[in-house]
Amino acid sequence: MSGSSLTAIVGGTGLTQYPGLNIEREEIIETPLGASSSPLVFANLHGQDVVFLARHGHPHTLPPNKINYRANLLALQKVGVTQIIAVNAVGGITQAMDAEVICIPDQIVDYTHGREDTFFDGVFKPLEHIDFSHPYDGALCDALMLAAEKANQDIVMKGVYGATQGPRLESIAEIVRMEKDGCDLVGMTGMPEAVLARELNIPYACLSLVVNKAAGKSEGIITMDDIHAAVDNGMACVQKIISSFLQK
Ligand code: HPA
Repeated sequence: MSGSSLTAIVGGTGLTQYPGLNIEREEIIETPLGASSSPLVFANLHGQDVVFLARHGHPHTLPPNKINYRANLLALQKVGVTQIIAVNAVGGITQAMDAEVICIPDQIVDYTHGREDTFFDGVFKPLEHIDFSHPYDGALCDALMLAAEKANQDIVMKGVYGATQGPRLESIAEIVRMEKDGCDLVGMTGMPEAVLARELNIPYACLSLVVNKAAGKSEGIITMDDIHAAVDNGMACVQKIISSFLQK
């Protein structure tokens, strides 16, 4: 690997393998807090060094509440990653968040529980209270927005990501509550990934692909068939944005 910038792409549901990578090597990275979810894939994409990580493993086996987010982030830090583009499949709560919309969220509400969600736990590192007013890196979000524009991909800039525990989807009442709390999107992996990146001072931004309307926001129940259709169509657009970002 060469150069000072090394972008990590962290893929989730629908992106456990990144198409088009020129793969140099793959390596499971061991850290003091365990191993990464899957081997880190060291590759070149559009002339840039990148590292790809499938956060649920490859094949997709780890549920969102069982992912070792701390090991994943430590592994990315260990190999010298300087910025992280996280890709998440999410449900859409507010009106603009229809299936296949891509949003770059700017805020988070965390509803997860019981996850190892800090390095500053008084065991691994001494207790510290970090600022998290702006959970995502503004410059990286702006660069992704410009990349989307350049690639002629519509996105919604700004949105509040509500992180739920999963692996089940939400009840209608939970989504009503989340909407009252100001959430636009609901997903299961946005936290603690974002805060752990901040604790390591690695700029982190998200491309959230809406793959279904959240519970109660459309007729009928949410089916995996609908989710898979939106994933198949939408992930190609996410990749166009990432390609445009790397080709800057
Ligand atoms: N809720 C939570 N996580 C999700 C959803 C949802 O509706 N869709 C995709 N990930």
